[in-house]
Amino acid sequence: MKIFVDTANVAEIREAVSWGVVDGVTTNPTLAAKEGKPFLPILKEICSLTKGPVSAEVLAEDAKGMVEEALPLAKVAPNVIIKIPMTAEGLKAAGELKNRGIKTNVTLIFTANQALLAAKAGATYASIFVGRLDDIGEDGMQPVRDAVQIYKTYCYKTEIIAASIRKPEHVLEAAKAGAHVATIPFPILKQCLGHSLTDKGIQRFLDDWKKVRK
Ligand code: E4P
Repeated sequence: MKIFVDTANVAEIREAVSWGVVDGVTTNPTLAAKEGKPFLPILKEICSLTKGPVSAEVLAEDAKGMVEEALPLAKVAPNVIIKIPMTAEGLKAAGELKNRGIKTNVTLIFTANQALLAAKAGATYASIFVGRLDDIGEDGMQPVRDAVQIYKTYCYKTEIIAASIRKPEHVLEAAKAGAHVATIPFPILKQCLGHSLTDKGIQRFLDDWKKVRK
């Protein structure tokens, strides 16, 4: 499973990339706004930190506007992926951008049927929001499992991103479900890295070594 880091924070991305486990980055308007700076220079810097895909979201609500917004974003770097909302207009824009050779990530997907339509429209990625479904009492991983099966059955090339990841268990479940990608907030990625017994184990090895090697 590929790992994307779900943040627009350059320091977090730099750190995660240094671990050698990051295959790409996803941002969204909320994450970008948190940085309190103009987005284009941030996007440029993020694209310089990884060769992997970097998703940048459009805000227009009509297909024409989405395509117009996408064009300058796509020019920032060759690894920019245009993130588009899962609406009829979004699907139109995804098709149009595909015709122009621009890759897309159809976002805000909550059902396997929406994921099916995103694949039909030619999206490069389909982002299924697991955590937000869990928030309303549903099993957020179920549409991921269903979409994985559907994409396999019909050999769709679109890659499924398990998004809105809230805890390490989501990462594990996404991997077990066969998601192509999990996009993970940096604090959750850090939780995946650590275990208290790892820390205790290191300390014990150091202490034992010191006892005999003065
Ligand atoms: C996906 O690409 C989104 O940026 C993201 O995963 C949203 O997650 P949230 O529900 O934590 O905002």
